[in-house]
Amino acid sequence: MKNSIITGASRGIGKAITEELALSGYNVALISRNNHHPSELVRTLDELKEKIKNNNYDYKPLCIGFECDISDKFRVKEVFSKIYDKFGSIDVLVNNAGINSRRSLNVDNIPKWFENLDDNLSGFDEEINVNLRGSFICSYIAAGYMLRNKRGSIVNISSVKGIESTTSLGYGASKAGMIKLTRDFAKALGAYGIRVNCVAPGFINCGMTSELSDEKKTEYKKKIPSKRFGDVEEVAKVVRFLASDNASYINGECINVNGGYLMI
Ligand code: NAI
Repeated sequence: MKNSIITGASRGIGKAITEELALSGYNVALISRNNHHPSELVRTLDELKEKIKNNNYDYKPLCIGFECDISDKFRVKEVFSKIYDKFGSIDVLVNNAGINSRRSLNVDNIPKWFENLDDNLSGFDEEINVNLRGSFICSYIAAGYMLRNKRGSIVNISSVKGIESTTSLGYGASKAGMIKLTRDFAKALGAYGIRVNCVAPGFINCGMTSELSDEKKTEYKKKIPSKRFGDVEEVAKVVRFLASDNASYINGECINVNGGYLMI
């Protein structure tokens, strides 16, 4: 049985990825920042254990969870070491945790341009810190364990906003950075049996898109050839494929999962 770590696993896309991996035979370690009381992570773990109990397969994957801020290198080191001790290897890492502070350049308020710098910068710093730097920390530490076995697969969750232009500058830059990190880690680690790939979802029915107004949702759907938002499971299945040996010769790639919204 292979062992996986999924960051941002308590809800949305991360939760779906965790279920997809667990129900296809991976032991799963869920990572999530604690920003909810009672803990969203504990609820998700309980739900998952219930689903596993009720499935008909022979295997019963282990599910463990840790509250951990991925931008805190000391905590990530501590948690990944505990996971390694418990599972015996780290075969798959999915860097899914992410935030969008939704700050954007406000050209309608030029008189306040300089005044707004600090607010914009704090959003930018936060997004780079969690999305890009956090993914770097997790990849670096997981790779240390994967290198011991000369085997592993890392899947980064970027975004369509890391490819097309966006008003959310820090978010877009962090997600573009994740595509670049994918290639650079892939190049460095490929010779050691470790593949690194990326998924760039478009508009998915969950977390981040739930904040959009109905008007905006309709507007975006018109621009998507499939005429709908994607479901979390549609992202999770691609992640499962990339994580698995079925994708054994795919390395440094970024797969768009966006209903044709962006064709490149
Ligand atoms: P969400 O906001 O519903 O869930 C985010 C998860 O990340 C939560 O579990 C949260 O606790 C965790 N998290 C946030 N900051 C963290 C930190 N510092 N340390 C550890 N965990 C942290 O997000 P959603 O919508 O499920 O998105 C998941 C990923 O997919 C994100 O990286 C997002 O950028 C990306 N994405 C989402 C799209 C969408 O339409 N929902 C579209 C494109 C990309």
